[in-house]
Amino acid sequence: MDKSDILSSLIQRKGFIWRSAEVYGGVSGLYDYGPSGAAMKRAWEGVWIEHFVTFSDNCHLIEPAEIMQEEPLKASGHVDSFTDVLTTCKSCKSEFRADHLLEAQTKRSFEGASLEDIQKAIQQNNVRCQQCKGELSAPTMFNMMFQVNIGAAGQEKGYLRPETAQASYLNFKRCFEVGRRRLPLGVAIIGRAFRNEIAPRQGVYRMREFTQAELQLFFDHERPPEPELDADYQLSIMFASERETGAKLYACSVLASRPELQPIARLYISKMCQIQRFYVETLKVPISKFRFFEKAGSEKAFYNKIHFDIEIDTDTLGGFKEVAGLHYRGDWDLSRHAAQSKKTMSVNVDGKEILPHVLELSFGVDRNVWALLDLSVAEREGKEERYTMLRLPASVAPFQVAVFPLMKKDGLAEKARSIFDILRREFRASYDESGSIGRRYARQDEIGTPFCLTIDYDTLKDDTVTIRDRDTTQQVRIKVADLVRDIGSKIAKD
Ligand code: GAP
Repeated sequence: MDKSDILSSLIQRKGFIWRSAEVYGGVSGLYDYGPSGAAMKRAWEGVWIEHFVTFSDNCHLIEPAEIMQEEPLKASGHVDSFTDVLTTCKSCKSEFRADHLLEAQTKRSFEGASLEDIQKAIQQNNVRCQQCKGELSAPTMFNMMFQVNIGAAGQEKGYLRPETAQASYLNFKRCFEVGRRRLPLGVAIIGRAFRNEIAPRQGVYRMREFTQAELQLFFDHERPPEPELDADYQLSIMFASERETGAKLYACSVLASRPELQPIARLYISKMCQIQRFYVETLKVPISKFRFFEKAGSEKAFYNKIHFDIEIDTDTLGGFKEVAGLHYRGDWDLSRHAAQSKKTMSVNVDGKEILPHVLELSFGVDRNVWALLDLSVAEREGKEERYTMLRLPASVAPFQVAVFPLMKKDGLAEKARSIFDILRREFRASYDESGSIGRRYARQDEIGTPFCLTIDYDTLKDDTVTIRDRDTTQQVRIKVADLVRDIGSKIAKD
């Protein structure tokens, strides 16, 4: 079995991710999270909130509606421009993203190319249907938003939001008041986004309903924030002009003068540092598997002035793939909402009228969960069998600690339960008393639990337990009275 098969089997068996409405065959691009997956996704979101919201000044988490009326999405450009290029097989009717078909055949990027250029390239390269080799239809623009009719008579047209970001712009002035009229101001949202992807594939990498964690930073572009940079800190970047040579490590001190990052270089670099630290230090992604990837020209989303994707190298997705983006959107959104709604989006700070510019940090939660699963998967020779395990960091593992009584008898189960009751208040904790200890370790390794405690006969005598480390399998004894403190510090270090 290759790694994709191993991981796919594990995530289904162990309750991470399932095809939605599986008993009816399911629909591509729709997935459900089982108990392990839901716990891991929640944990990732918690770590993201802590890293980007809790420890940032004047940053607010909001929770807006998922259905949006048409007008704001007209203003934002989504009604007219949120499109992919569709081509259909004339024989078997399979639908494809024309740019993806071309990329697969020519190994060149056609992201953002015009309909005309795509049509020409399909003919020149004799691109055919991937299913039946049939002839392809002329490509057309397909809008990816799911339309909904609001109200019993359906008189109000709306859409399931295609990105969470728009609600931050619409609530900007409210948040500005709540934040006591200060800039810069951060508005964050974690929630669902909906896109009717033409050909969803690669599991949760391209879904029709997915979760985004987005932060919009509003600032005065005439006086952009100029945070102190750690001059020696090195960022892994692939600039568009340097794709031939690959990603390189650049010290912050040399980046400040790069033309690609102007006119907000210091602010942009400081956010790149925050993002890289999130991945490398908090989520333990090896730096060799992480990079910023610059999008240039027509590759950039239609609203972006500066656009870098954040990419992680995974085996199961075949190399570096986008998991997030850092976008300088300028005043694209606020100025359009002001024009469409005929309400000013400017704010007054110290007597100066400002229409803020926006720097957006946009993360796809599902892609991040998948990337961490991919990076953490490993094989282990157990006492009874060889099995697959996950070396997940404690911050995102579904359970951080598991508690086992050696036996169910002689008061061991009661003692183990009482310890579990203390630990479950502090950590994501699990309790297991069935099967051999080896089998129980294996079960926890499979879902990535970093620490397992065994309550044995010595526990009854001296109130100590064994704690076993998932990665080293080393076991040490530790006092029950110190468990919360010691496990807390192990998790913080993991
Ligand atoms: N507000 C900006 C925005 O939505 P995007 O690049 O379209 O930008 C941001 O999306 C992130 O959302 C991506 O980096 C990716 O991680 C995730 N994402 C986008 N489309 C997705 C899909 N169909 N399935 C899963 N995740 C997706």
